[in-house]
Parts: sequence; structure tokens; C-alpha cells
Amino acid sequence: MAHDWQSIRSQYLHDPDQIYLNTGSWGVMPTPVYEDYVGLIRQLESNPTQGRRPLLERLAESRRALAGYLNIQARDLALLPNVTAALNMVVNGLDWAEGDEILTTDQEYGAILNTLDNASKRWGVPVVKAEIPVPPESPAAILAPIEAAITDQTRLLVCSHITTRTGMILPIKEISELAHRHGVLVAYDGAHAPGMGPVDLAESDADFYGGNCHKWLCSPKGVGFLYANPSVQPLLHHLIVSWGYSPEGTVEVDGEPTINSSPAMWGLGNWGTVDLPGQVATGEAVRFQEEIGTEAIAARGRELSGYVRDRVSNLPWIDILSPSKPGLFGSITTIRLRGMGGKNLNKQLFETYRITIPVFEEGEDASVRVSTHLYNLPAEIDHLFKAITEIQSA
Ligand SMILES: Cc1ncc(COP(=O)(O)O)c(C=O)c1O
Repeated sequence: MAHDWQSIRSQYLHDPDQIYLNTGSWGVMPTPVYEDYVGLIRQLESNPTQGRRPLLERLAESRRALAGYLNIQARDLALLPNVTAALNMVVNGLDWAEGDEILTTDQEYGAILNTLDNASKRWGVPVVKAEIPVPPESPAAILAPIEAAITDQTRLLVCSHITTRTGMILPIKEISELAHRHGVLVAYDGAHAPGMGPVDLAESDADFYGGNCHKWLCSPKGVGFLYANPSVQPLLHHLIVSWGYSPEGTVEVDGEPTINSSPAMWGLGNWGTVDLPGQVATGEAVRFQEEIGTEAIAARGRELSGYVRDRVSNLPWIDILSPSKPGLFGSITTIRLRGMGGKNLNKQLFETYRITIPVFEEGEDASVRVSTHLYNLPAEIDHLFKAITEIQSA
């Protein structure tokens, strides 16, 4: 089916006079999700006590929608505010024994590296970093350094599904197979995968998978999740002890459990009062993308990132840092702009050209991470390159 991307763009809330190329940090809500969200807030605020029940009923539907999208059972899912919380649940929720090691990579997000560093200091668990080539030439080039860094002590591997810096897609099915062959548990940082394209957690054979809904899935901000395979759920202690402390703690409405989570996962996600409207409206975010087609969204993101590559191919002062091999890249393209460090690029791009994009200063050079989601258009990429070329030659 051919899509009218211009008309899809008009269903999103961002300012049409601005260019938003930072879905890698936060996605933009489409109008139906926003309307659902504010409607739910209004409904709840009309009576914060009685208004909870219908929202809890809809929450069960939203959990099922998200679980269906991820190809898992809703009972194996805990809704949490973000992927940082989800991975903290794993790293700080496991019992660590003398001699255990954590393996990670040199491509991880800073806050997650902090989580690992804290665990290392607190429990004396060494954190080993496998070095992944940037960009890698093949999935094997990612798997080899990970396998080489596994020791008899490695207990948990923590790595991204899609990396923050260059949008590299890791072969998670093969990584799980490798980790399990060595008796290692694996926890994925799925900050960028849900919504960039389809995510099949059953196929991934992940032990743990933390994800964000507020980036590429374009849900309200502050909605993420932790999936845990049923076989490893009993390994996790609760970091926040609330009503879910009781193993029978499923909420019942009219005798029916409304939060169809297993007791272990219900307990993990039960933090007392949370942003119920945001969690509920996430079901609408899933529905909205599924209606367009998750494969079509992924293909559009790749097509636009191909367009970014085409635009830089004749500019000798630009290097592409993201992988170029099919299967290893999605909707993020990071490019290095040689000699453009110290030009206050971030400010110039926003104030002069109305472009929002993350800029990383690296001494003499700078790099920008271009997120190309379903609401971006080729003309916006043209505008980015016009801006960069003008700033470069100024
Ligand atoms: C790979 C990766 N992990 C984790 C995060 C943290 O996301 P959050 O702040 O929503 O927990 C980010 C955010 O950009 C990320 O890129």
C-alpha cells in the first residue's frame, strides 16, 4: 500500500514551521494519541477516585496491545516510566554473587553505563566492555568481540538493541543464542526499537528487555516497559516495594483481574500512583502505528536515512558513522562534520534554521544524529544540508 507521508505528517503535533529531527531523544505524539491522553486526564480529573476504574479497565487493553505488538504475553510485561528504570530493575534487582561479572559494550547510553558502574561499586561486580567496530561491516563483526569478552564469570550481558550514538542495530536473536550458549543472561536496552519498526521479543529470546514508548512509538512521555521471560522473573527483587509485594497482588475489578500481569511483573510495575492516562494512551499509540503498518514505518525510516547518505556522498568533509549494510541500520544516521566543532552548531541550527537535532562536539569536529521517522520529509533533510553547508562555508 502506498502511503501519503505528507498527510501522515499533518497528523502529528509538532510545529509545521520547524524541523524536528530528534525522535532519538523524544518522539512527537500524533493528534489521536494526544486527544486520547488529554481526554483520559479530563475523565480522571472529573473524579480522581471513581475515575480510576474505567482507566484500569482500559489499561488492561493497552497492555494487551503493547504485548501483542512486542509478540509476548501481557503478563510478562511491567509498565515503567522509561528504559532507565527498566534496566535498573534488572541490574539492581538480581542477586550478585562473588566472582560474577557484567559484560556490556562501548556503545551504550551514558545513564545505563552509570547504572552498571553503580552496581560495580556497590556489589563489587566488574563491568567488562566489549569494543564494537563503528561502523561494523556485518553482524559477525558485532558478535565476535562480544563472544571474545565472555568469561566463565560473566553472569549478565547488557547491550542495546539499537545504539544511541549511531543507530546501529544489533543482531539480538544471535546475541541471545550466543549468551545462552555460555550460560549468560541477557538484558537489552530497547530505548530505540519499539516504533522504529516491528519488535519480536519472542523471536529475540531475550531474558530481559527494557523499552521506551515515548521515543519512536510516540506515546505520552514517561511510558516505558520491562519484559522478563517467565523463567527469569523469579530472579528479580523488587526495587520499589509496594502493593505488588504480595504475590497474589493482582488488582480485581468486579471479580476480574484487570491488570493481566503475572504477579512477579505486576509487583515490579506497581509503584503506587503513576500517570495512568499516559500508560492507557500508549495503547492508542500502538494502534495508530499498526494501522499505518510497522514494516512500512521501518521501510520509510530506512528510505529517508538512505536519502541522508545520498546527500552527504559528495561532501568530502563529512563521514558517515552509522552502519551502511542492510539490516544494521534503521532510522538513525549519524554523520561527522569535520572541522565544525566550536561553531556552536546546535544554537545556529535551531535559531537560524529552526532545526532541532542533537549535536555532539568532538574537539575540532562535530557530529549530528539525524532521526528520520515517519513524520519527516525529504525536504527537511534538504534544509538540514543547506544549513550545514552554509555554516561550514561561513
Ligand atoms: C540507548 C538508550 N538507552 C536509554 C536511554 C534513556 O531513555 P530514558 O531517559 O527514557 O530512560 C536512551 C535515551 O536517549 C538511549 O538512547
